[in-house]
Amino acid sequence: MRLDGPKPEAYMRQRDTPPQRGAPICKDGDIAMTKPAALPRVNAFSSGPCAKRPGWSLKALSDAPLGRSHRAKVGKTKLKLAIDLTREVLGVPADYRIGIVPASDTGAVEMALWSLLGARGVDMVAWESFGEGWVTDVVKQLKLTDVRTITAPYGELPNLKKVDTKTRDVVFTWNGTTSGVRVPDADWIAADREGLTICDATSAAFAQDLDWAKLDVTTFSWQKVLGGEAAHGMIILSPRAVERLLTYKPAWPLPKIFRMTSGGKLIEGIFVGETINTPSMLCVEDYIDALNWAKKVGGLAGLMKRADANTRALASWVKKTPWIDFLAVKPKTRSNTSVCLKFTDPKVVALDAAKQADFAKAVVAILEKEGAGLDLGHYRDAPPGLRIWCGATVQTRDVKALIPWIEYAFATERAKLG
Ligand SMILES: Cc1ncc(COP(=O)(O)O)c(C=O)c1O
Repeated sequence: MRLDGPKPEAYMRQRDTPPQRGAPICKDGDIAMTKPAALPRVNAFSSGPCAKRPGWSLKALSDAPLGRSHRAKVGKTKLKLAIDLTREVLGVPADYRIGIVPASDTGAVEMALWSLLGARGVDMVAWESFGEGWVTDVVKQLKLTDVRTITAPYGELPNLKKVDTKTRDVVFTWNGTTSGVRVPDADWIAADREGLTICDATSAAFAQDLDWAKLDVTTFSWQKVLGGEAAHGMIILSPRAVERLLTYKPAWPLPKIFRMTSGGKLIEGIFVGETINTPSMLCVEDYIDALNWAKKVGGLAGLMKRADANTRALASWVKKTPWIDFLAVKPKTRSNTSVCLKFTDPKVVALDAAKQADFAKAVVAILEKEGAGLDLGHYRDAPPGLRIWCGATVQTRDVKALIPWIEYAFATERAKLG
């Protein structure tokens, strides 16, 4: 077996005591590996909450209007600024409304599902855990009957040609966080559609090019690509989505935190920072800080470039490494944020599902113990492997520094399989 770690040392004797960092280790004579000398400077690779922006410290929050009402001028101004900066950085069209809503991305998606669906048939497009969660909402909770579920297994995208984007509503996830599979574009969505598209874009926004003309409802949370705090969600509505809100009343009751209309009118305040209930002004301040940082690194183009560079660093390593591969089968569907990798070593693949998961968890445990990388295991429902967040707040040098540690952790666990 060949491993591309730094300075591999062949055929060392097995050691009884753990080696020091930089010292060579070996087991059973057939694996040579050196414990890497340098750790990533930042070892946060979680897919949410994601790494804070480079240089972040609590000082970034010092202007937060703490202890003040969010309805006071100072609070409203901050909330409006968060909305305005969102529009600026994401390039959201002027006639789309942007609201800050409760309960993170889940809150924003469910608000849309509960408020808008039922007016016509809906195509639910799902290829991983979160997309499947929205299917459950629609089929088992809302109990809609005119539902078509268009799915694909982990690693694949469903056949999007099967989706009726012309006459039906469509619910989909732009970037499937738990499989690392994304839609490459929105060309499959009809420009002259009669239904609405509802898009969970939480791990795509700020890293991938969202085609606003094709999106009627777009949601995300601050905790993903910008490394903000969770708790609040963003909902972006096209004029057609607003029209549906004004002309359609769902048959089921709507809790207050889902309500975007009152007396047949849109609650416009939501879209200028008059939130439905109390937000955390500390989180708002943090989001504003992240948006200002985004502008400094080149806005949306700069953010996408950063995520692409991180993913490229992993891709060139995967290409030359025989025992690992992307979970995403087609290169153009590979995520540049939640990069999901699977072990392809024959000895690992030969293990049963539970043992493969144990293997992946053991690799992840070594990375955590060594302080090389945190929270980069596969999602609980996803195939075993690694999920390495490559969003804009992660530095490419840290991704590169992580790689030899993955090799080291893999070699350590692989040696145990004989
Ligand atoms: C695609 C997707 N949808 C929804 C969620 C849930 O997000 P939140 O916890 O911000 O509500 C996540 C979280 O990882 C996600 O990746």
